[in-house]
Amino acid sequence: MNIAIGSDHGGFELKEKIKPLIVELGHDVEDVGCYSMDSVDYPEQAKAVSKMVAEGKADRGILICGTGIGMSLAANRCKGIRAALCHELFTARMSRKHNDANILCMGGRVIGPELAKEMVKIWLATEFEGGRHKRRIDMIDGVC
Ligand code: RB5
Repeated sequence: MNIAIGSDHGGFELKEKIKPLIVELGHDVEDVGCYSMDSVDYPEQAKAVSKMVAEGKADRGILICGTGIGMSLAANRCKGIRAALCHELFTARMSRKHNDANILCMGGRVIGPELAKEMVKIWLATEFEGGRHKRRIDMIDGVC
């Protein structure tokens, strides 16, 4: 798969640790920044990754800020994006099985790199179950 990844300064260090794993797992990775610990505004990277996924230029996306909250709020404003903020393995897996999440958000100041790597492995490998869950995700755009 083509994986788009982005972070702000709060997620930069974790992003740098996640990128080689994605390649090791046999995927292509496109990094939209940021590229240092200098302070940036997370909606910029959220927009870049969300657009790539929504337009089919990336199969999935990963967004990391300090908490993951800002990235998930911003990404979910983009039509076609289902961004899941996860901090442990169960929700990472379920966000794929039941929600067909196409962006994984994580908090670089919340979880450590080893847990984050396990989450990414599971999240990239888990398929959407479809069925009743497809009906439910199709209803999301109609919420308001
Ligand atoms: C940046 O200091 C921080 O606010 C940001 O990384 C993120 O946690 C926002 O949700």
